[in-house]
Amino acid sequence: MDDQVNHLTPAHPAHGNDSGAELYARAEADRKAFWAAQARRLHWDEPWQHVLDWSRPPIARWFDGGRLNVAYNCVDRHVEAGYGDQVAVHWVGEPGDTRDITYRDLHRMVQQAANALAGLGLRAGDRVAIQLPMIPEAIVAMLACARLGLVHSVVFAGFSPAALRARVDDARARVVVTADGQYRRGRAVPMKEKVDEALVDADSVERVIVVRRVGADLDDDTPWQNGRDIWWHDLLRDASDHHDAESFDAEHPLFILYTSGTTGKPKGILHTSGGYLTQAAYTHRIVFDHRPGSDVYWCTADIGWITGHTYLVYGPLANRTTQVVYEGTPNVPHEGRHWEIIQRYRVSLYYTAPTLIRTFMKWGEQIPARYDLSSLRVLGSVGEPINPEAWLWYHQHVGGGRSPIVDTWWQTETGAIMVAPLPGLRAPKPGAAQRPLPGIGAKVVDDEGRQVSPGASGYLVIDSPWPAMARGIWGDDERFRTTYWDRFAAHDDYFAGDGARYDTDGDIWILGRTDDVMNVSGHRLSTAEIESALVAHPAVAEAAVVGASDALTGQRVIGFVVARGEADPPTADDLRRYVAEAIGPIATPREIHSVPELPKTRSGKIVRRLLRDIADGREPSETTTLADPAVITDIAQRFGPRTDA
Ligand code: PRX
Repeated sequence: MDDQVNHLTPAHPAHGNDSGAELYARAEADRKAFWAAQARRLHWDEPWQHVLDWSRPPIARWFDGGRLNVAYNCVDRHVEAGYGDQVAVHWVGEPGDTRDITYRDLHRMVQQAANALAGLGLRAGDRVAIQLPMIPEAIVAMLACARLGLVHSVVFAGFSPAALRARVDDARARVVVTADGQYRRGRAVPMKEKVDEALVDADSVERVIVVRRVGADLDDDTPWQNGRDIWWHDLLRDASDHHDAESFDAEHPLFILYTSGTTGKPKGILHTSGGYLTQAAYTHRIVFDHRPGSDVYWCTADIGWITGHTYLVYGPLANRTTQVVYEGTPNVPHEGRHWEIIQRYRVSLYYTAPTLIRTFMKWGEQIPARYDLSSLRVLGSVGEPINPEAWLWYHQHVGGGRSPIVDTWWQTETGAIMVAPLPGLRAPKPGAAQRPLPGIGAKVVDDEGRQVSPGASGYLVIDSPWPAMARGIWGDDERFRTTYWDRFAAHDDYFAGDGARYDTDGDIWILGRTDDVMNVSGHRLSTAEIESALVAHPAVAEAAVVGASDALTGQRVIGFVVARGEADPPTADDLRRYVAEAIGPIATPREIHSVPELPKTRSGKIVRRLLRDIADGREPSETTTLADPAVITDIAQRFGPRTDA
């Protein structure tokens, strides 16, 4: 086969040999050879036979036949190459405690954790749910799973017991890893008791492993189920710190991560090993221009989201990064916390979300001005469109007018960055993600799937398979196909759900979701999921949820409910509690309005677009499709003029 490669040839000696322009040219000339070269920077125990098998779309197989161990690539090989003393993680706890973890320390911890998990009888392919705060053990637990071929499903620590339970059941997790509690906004709050609540009668779960994070700050009062629960430190204390990493097929599942879609049920997005790690490492290296050993990198995402998986765990560690991991909120104990950390560790690469940048703007430029941020070299943005005002503020008040900003577009499903400018290569454009990365085929198309011309807008699609692409929805391949591939099936294009436009230079501007998925502070929320939480309330007959524009959080959740029969309308607080319990506090609507009826088409479909118009303070447009246009006029009158939109 033409793409049979010799994996024993050394990788490129260092970053910097690839100028951006050369990367584009090489990828353009031969995309498969280009990705093979990126994959060869990893350590493979056995070579692959084919770079890409796309014979059964939409499920790709990358580096088929190749075998590797993801954790070995992220940890062991750096120690073996003599970098054991390099700090992997400068960890900063919210209360101010710190830990510096070298690659040697990480190696020891991951081996112990792997032995401990294996000792519980877990075997490759078994699922482990992880709900932990941002503590080093979260990274260790993920890597220990990867080392053993266990499939992790990390659940954001802010998700409710019901949301955790739905994820545990869907994946049939045998083990759950959690903590006694976590620090949030300066307080210790319990976690374990919530996990217990989630796991009542969860028949797949055999063991719950508990990291002691807050201890005495919660009076060491951790509820315990003997026989099932076990302390992380007890488990590791008895485990050997030597573990030989076994190699797994390139397509062995690495993790499941649940994300919201247009229906009420979250989708378990499945990622596999070799292709995912290749693109995670490649994008982290070229987008941030990362130089191992000299850069200090900080990605502020939580491990509960895809950004935390790809740009806090797998990408950076595969690239032998020294990184900061911060446990807490950005204004505890003061609003300069991030700048203080950047100054202290001389952070050079900083990756965050527009919503946080807008929060920093609100707090004022005098705060970053008090700190020495001269170490910063590249700034990143992810999760939602960055408005030009926030871009300029970030550039000037954080980047000192020097550091390029990389606005990175991607998704849980894409696994890694897809569209972003390469730092320093082209003149920056505040607010534009710009070009597909070398090796990626992304374009903007019209309703029929034809590429639109410069200046026009349409749908953002990916027109050729990429290594980190999702390999399906856990347990539901059909849903994977219908959700992402049916829309532009004639061209075999993946449709991401986002609208985009080309400017006259042909650069891509992301316009936001075209479906009923909201983006609040960079977190993806489903209208349908929140609606089903609202209608679960006994006094609610119907509910519609929309994302209204918000200057700080991008969008904010607004709910409209119709009370059941003669029932008194439920209070907004009561309904918010329902949503917090079903999903988590991040999903609770900012406002909930009780209305007599919802605007619907003649076939009974709720027209959320009109409710969004109202919530945004616009005149409702095109009401002709409604069964009864008076409904929307009535809601508009109740709502009154908006001054805060
Ligand atoms: O709408 C896009 C938006 O976030 C969605 C993906 O959300 P999620 O899977 O949670 O992953 C977020 C982190 C990668 C996309 O469909 N989005 C992400 N990055 C950008 C963005 N919108 C505009 N510009 C971006 N840079």
